[in-house]
Amino acid sequence: MTITFIGHGYVGLVTACVFADFGNKVWIIGHTEEKLKRLKSGDPIIYEPGLKELLEKNLQTKRIHITKDYDTAVAESDIVFIAVGTPPKKSGEADLTSVFEVAEKISKHLKDGTTVVSCKSTVPVGTNKKVEAILQKNKKSKAEILTASCPEFLREGTAIYDTLNPDRVVVGSDSKKAIDILLELHKPINGKRVITNLASAELIKYASNAMLATKISFANFVSFYCEETGADVEKVLDAVGLDNRIGRVFLYPGVGYGGSCLPKDVKALIDSGKTLGVDTSLLQEVEDINETARKNFLQKLFENFKGKKIAVWGLSFKPNTDDIRFAPSLYILQAFLDKNLQVSVYDPVAIENVKKLFKNQLTYAKDPYEVLKEADALCILTEWNEFKQIDLKKVKGLLKNPLVFDGRNMYDPKKMAKLGFSYFGIGRNL
Ligand code: UDX
Repeated sequence: MTITFIGHGYVGLVTACVFADFGNKVWIIGHTEEKLKRLKSGDPIIYEPGLKELLEKNLQTKRIHITKDYDTAVAESDIVFIAVGTPPKKSGEADLTSVFEVAEKISKHLKDGTTVVSCKSTVPVGTNKKVEAILQKNKKSKAEILTASCPEFLREGTAIYDTLNPDRVVVGSDSKKAIDILLELHKPINGKRVITNLASAELIKYASNAMLATKISFANFVSFYCEETGADVEKVLDAVGLDNRIGRVFLYPGVGYGGSCLPKDVKALIDSGKTLGVDTSLLQEVEDINETARKNFLQKLFENFKGKKIAVWGLSFKPNTDDIRFAPSLYILQAFLDKNLQVSVYDPVAIENVKKLFKNQLTYAKDPYEVLKEADALCILTEWNEFKQIDLKKVKGLLKNPLVFDGRNMYDPKKMAKLGFSYFGIGRNL
């Protein structure tokens, strides 16, 4: 098949590379000349394990074509995926400007015959119907346009694996023909098939991310309880998670969820729920707890930290990505600066992105030891693998004070005490 992806972020680029790797001809449309140049040279722009290799391979075999123009790409395509950003507006409402702009452009170049146009972007229920109206408005007489929603559930850091091995492939459309074409495309991909209508497919994506956020906020709620009672959150949640009906995944407390999806999608669902007259107080609470998690962590830190310089490990919103969008680290770094602390930071890949925001307000270190020099405490915000079995004796030797605030519960509190650290995790009591 010939496929076009409009947008080359995590969803667009990863999915495009995976479908190209299966032998399809894939067009990627972007609008920033400099970024397209980088993509053409094999640079995926974002950091995602395995993506550079996959992009380079499929550029070399000429299965991926990168362009700014809609005419050839869209006119050749059997399927056009819209994978542009839907960032939150101030109100929380998903900003659909790019989705509608792109739909307008697609509509002018569709070929005679059948094209499936499917949103991969996360969009509120009803958006695909609006996209369909835009497409139909400019339709040529011989073009058959079928709209569908094919949401993506990939996680940053494991995006290629997730695209190849999703738990489910959701295809939503009111057209049987569109469903058949999309099922054919997804044939080499694992996972259960869920065939449904447009509205359900749109909601499945939001409901899934809202559920994940709810689990995380629940874990944080349990940690608040533990802090006040002497219970240990990891033991409590290990046992709770052993109940097959509950499970332990996404039940890890910490400094809260961040990233480009969970915060935005919870906000968008609250916003659209209000418009629809649906009670959204559950999700409002999920959001509030996420904020409280960061605030509680900072409160504990400031109560126990009397120094001047603090070292930070981990800046990305989670490991294996350089993405810092809505990362808890941004909020926490700003709080340190507001208290006039000297802040030195280390992250394996996200430093450059943080530099763009904080410039010379922070000191940037090249490794996890260098960052500790002269620091009065260490604060951990992302659970990168390289911190898991790090030489903690060396860490203690480098810190001015053996004080560790761990926002991701990476270490055993007993072991840390034995090593001579004053160690503060989240809801830990052993
Ligand atoms: C998420 C969804 O998982 C994915 O299905 C969807 O397609 C896009 O949104 P992603 O944003 O890549 O993926 O990150 P995810 O792994 O879900 O983590 C989100 C945030 O939650 C991170 O900040 C992470 O640190 C935090 N988290 C996750 C917790 O605090 N506790 C947990 O138990 C799990």
